[in-house]
Amino acid sequence: MLVNAVEMINKARDGHYAVAQININNLEWTKAVLQTVEELKSPVILGVSAGAGKYMAGFTVVTAMVKAMDAALKISVPVALHLDHGSYEDAKKCIDAGFTSIMFDGSHFSIDENIAKTKELVELAHKNGLSIEAEVGSIGGEEDGVIGMGEIADPEQCKLIASLGIDFLAAGIGNIHGVYPPNWKGLDFGALEKIHDATGGIPLVLHGGTGIPEDMIKKAINLGVSKINVNTECQLTFAAAVRKYIEEGKDKEKKGFDPRTLLAPGVEAIKETVREKIRLFGSDNKA
Ligand code: 13P
Repeated sequence: MLVNAVEMINKARDGHYAVAQININNLEWTKAVLQTVEELKSPVILGVSAGAGKYMAGFTVVTAMVKAMDAALKISVPVALHLDHGSYEDAKKCIDAGFTSIMFDGSHFSIDENIAKTKELVELAHKNGLSIEAEVGSIGGEEDGVIGMGEIADPEQCKLIASLGIDFLAAGIGNIHGVYPPNWKGLDFGALEKIHDATGGIPLVLHGGTGIPEDMIKKAINLGVSKINVNTECQLTFAAAVRKYIEEGKDKEKKGFDPRTLLAPGVEAIKETVREKIRLFGSDNKA
């Protein structure tokens, strides 16, 4: 069932658990996530970055695939199709393409420009029935081998953006995309508390879910995080499983080279990662 993410995330905030945003990259990824959330009776947000959208031949192709697969697999749990870190232009494209949720990432603009663009997109998204996430304080991560540590969002700026009518807010609290470096200082819970207090209970989003220790995830949920994004971890477990299959020479046995067979261990690895995350975030049996 394709829906926007408002109800599932408000329920998560009120019930003190978090909904997972799992980013998808292709048909196998999508099928693995949908089958797992159905098995665990969990709501889910399928995240699509601009790059993943381009890879899948465009946002309209992604919508058509997700909608058709959701129907064909008789998925009964709520599923939101969400643009991840969207530009202003891509946010508009996804509204037209039939996504049910968007993230506009204006964190690299001045706060005034972030506010102006977010405000316009809130109106457009809501008019079309989509939910909308905005961001304050950029999330760091690896870019060309340089790892940025991620900004700590200013609570006053968070308050301004939250007051624009957005449905959930991504705020940097020292989290970064990709694998955390050994010298990572951990999440800044003091900052999270201040942001939570300043934004009047709006559901908060934790990006960079890969590799955050379990106790930090649980504490973040207690302090108002209701949506947690995971991307890299599924890619890593997928790659390790396919690598093992090939290194064991299984692609050379019988018809082991058939992509449906060759990618199967990777698909199972994605399913296991998604199961772990959903149980950790506490959204199983909450559909
Ligand atoms: P990771 O790739 O670190 O899991 O982060 C995903 C994310 O935050 C997508 O927006």
